[in-house]
Amino acid sequence: MILSIESSCDDSSLAVTSIQDCHLLYHKKISQDSHHSVYGGVVPEIASRMHAIHLPFLLKDVFKHFHPKNFKAIAITSRPGLSVTLIEGLMMAKTLALDLKIPLIDVNHLKGHVYSLFINKKKAIHPLSTLLVSGGHTQILESYSHKDMTLVAESLDDSFGESFDKAARMLSLPYPGGPEIQKLSQEYDRLHPNIPALIPFPIPLKHHKSLAFSFSGLKNALRLQIQKSDLKDGFTKICIAKSFEVAACIHLVQQIQRYFKKSKNEYFSLVGGASANLTLRKMMEDLCKKYNKTLLLADLQFCTDNAAMIGRIAVESYLKGEFCKDILSLQPHPKSLREDFKNSPIA
Ligand code: KG4
Ligand code: ZN
Repeated sequence: MILSIESSCDDSSLAVTSIQDCHLLYHKKISQDSHHSVYGGVVPEIASRMHAIHLPFLLKDVFKHFHPKNFKAIAITSRPGLSVTLIEGLMMAKTLALDLKIPLIDVNHLKGHVYSLFINKKKAIHPLSTLLVSGGHTQILESYSHKDMTLVAESLDDSFGESFDKAARMLSLPYPGGPEIQKLSQEYDRLHPNIPALIPFPIPLKHHKSLAFSFSGLKNALRLQIQKSDLKDGFTKICIAKSFEVAACIHLVQQIQRYFKKSKNEYFSLVGGASANLTLRKMMEDLCKKYNKTLLLADLQFCTDNAAMIGRIAVESYLKGEFCKDILSLQPHPKSLREDFKNSPIA
């Protein structure tokens, strides 16, 4: 079994995965939303302190169910993320690996998100195109194995999830903003057609050919709309939230449509915390049907950060004997390393 640890942002999570059949044998996570909500975003110092409390608590629970001698390796997210939170998990992982005299597998969190698709599945699917939408990243990736992944395009400014968090803040909704905006969007659908029509926000990069993403212009349009609106009117707030969500999703669909015209991969997937968005899932389903692509979606519980996806990708590394060569020197990195992803020629 592999014991995996995730602490790249504000979720402390531990998982145990069977090496033989990739079964998830244990998974728990403690989120910190309520601690950051009042600040409208993650406060790194608070997140770090909470991991220092939650990770040992979870480890104690793991040891109630599994004897440490059954672990063959420890897997840890070492990048990208907040350095002060990554280090909490990393210290625990290093200590366990050295004490139990077993290998350490350091995992790129974004590659982990891709493998959220294959939790409880013995075989991963490649080649695979992926749209990764999280709080920190919006990227198109192509993967040929757990190791060999290409970065095709990414956001020039904010990420998709981050734009929801900022939109929610402007609308006086709590953090994390994604689920809050989605709630209002569902309310809009419930009230339709007895609610004003959607506001036609500008779709980012509409007149460009690039595959990149951008959310800063949309964010500014939202700010200007809010300035001239009365948010005390419930209908107005619901209408603005839904209009923002739709515009942000249309932007993703527009860019993926451009990508589909260049890519021959049959399999396309949507991963990352914001891939839980139901409007986005529906739009991507329709797009994939149109372009004859097979859409893979992660289980809703594994969209946001979790250690199960880290354990699943680590099984592949374990089977290939890819271990951290110098445990003591391993450091957290806020960004991906250059060797993590190749750049794509079609970008
Ligand atoms: O992958 P994740 O858990 O953390 C990072 O690696 O960043 O993603 C968290 C992000 C947050 O920005 C959150 O607002 C967004 O995912 N999110 C959503 C939804 N659920 C979570 N965004 C849109 N719609 C949702 N339903
Ligand atoms: Zn993530």
